[in-house]
Amino acid sequence: MDGLRVMEDGTYLDGTFGRGGHARGVLQRLGTGGRLLLMDKDPEAIAVAEHGFGADPRVSIHRGSFTDLAHWDAVRDGLDGVLFDLGVSSPQLDVAERGFSFGKDGPLDMRMDPDAGESAAQWLARAGEAEIADVLWTFGEERMSRRIARAIVARRAEQPLTRTAQLAELIASVMPRPKAGRHEIHPATRSFQAIRIHVNRELADLEAGLDAAHAALRPGGRLAVISFHSLEDRIVKRFIARHAKAPAGNRRLPETDAFEPTLRAIGAARKGDAAEIAANPRARSAVLRVAEKLGAPGLGTRDPGLEEQRREGQQRQQGRIGVCSSRVASLFRVPSPASRVPPTTERRP
Ligand SMILES: C[S@@+](CC[C@H](N)C(=O)[O-])C[C@H]1O[C@@H](n2cnc3c(N)ncnc32)[C@H](O)[C@@H]1O
Repeated sequence: MDGLRVMEDGTYLDGTFGRGGHARGVLQRLGTGGRLLLMDKDPEAIAVAEHGFGADPRVSIHRGSFTDLAHWDAVRDGLDGVLFDLGVSSPQLDVAERGFSFGKDGPLDMRMDPDAGESAAQWLARAGEAEIADVLWTFGEERMSRRIARAIVARRAEQPLTRTAQLAELIASVMPRPKAGRHEIHPATRSFQAIRIHVNRELADLEAGLDAAHAALRPGGRLAVISFHSLEDRIVKRFIARHAKAPAGNRRLPETDAFEPTLRAIGAARKGDAAEIAANPRARSAVLRVAEKLGAPGLGTRDPGLEEQRREGQQRQQGRIGVCSSRVASLFRVPSPASRVPPTTERRP
């Protein structure tokens, strides 16, 4: 909350409302002239937002992905702060019916927005073995990815995989037994994480959301992002560095245009302290990064980047461009067996 540096009369976007813990913190710091914009792609989160915050005249609520924040009229005049608290919320994990949990049996769904895209069951029913293996490896760093993918394809030929418990048991049955006395995570942990990231296009959304937030921020505005695994944090770290630091020069190439930083990193990456982890054990793997938008104050609130984001968003809605940027697209592209990247292949059994 300190990273966002909330001003009493500022305008802030919580792009991942969840159950409103952070939104509540921002509201406590806002005066009567301030505004808080709340987004989430999960209809249940939006229902909680409407119920808890809908009557507050400082609050506006919108269901949708933060990738499309530039479409929202409330964002038109720019933002003084944007918060993304990535990943799944506790209720999404805890309610079996949402299908995220290997510990509780439910329909194999895993979509944060149940009205968008394929469920995990639909994807596992149609994806090729190599595609499944690559998703498990890329998004879950699952060393047994090929073995698990093979088992999934064999099992679905006999009966469709429709329940979380069915998938968790199948994965556990093909994993090596843990060494005696060693505490191991549940054998399906990495696979469930990978499938969830894939089904929700989480990394592509993060790339697009960072660009949209950057464009919408006013000079002096703050971007705060909390990530829960290294794939997300790497994207955030590189995004801030790309906008804050000149790329390393190459003496053999001609000088290109002078680099103008548009962001300034605020402090180093921060992990949750003991009190935060005690209050919320899931904060154990959380990493916070904060950056500030540069530019002279008083330049005006319209940012050409925001206009560009809005145009791109409209095209996306009309289906003319995909949400997946080229930087992240490479993660989603499933290489043909012949073109697999050797280091990855070497580390995979
Ligand atoms: C970790 S929770 C946020 C918790 C929240 N900060 C709180 O205090 O309760 C993440 C939330 O972000 C939402 N979410 C994830 N990706 C999103 C996206 N691209 N656009 C909008 N909401 C997203 C999820 O549906 C989930 O409700």
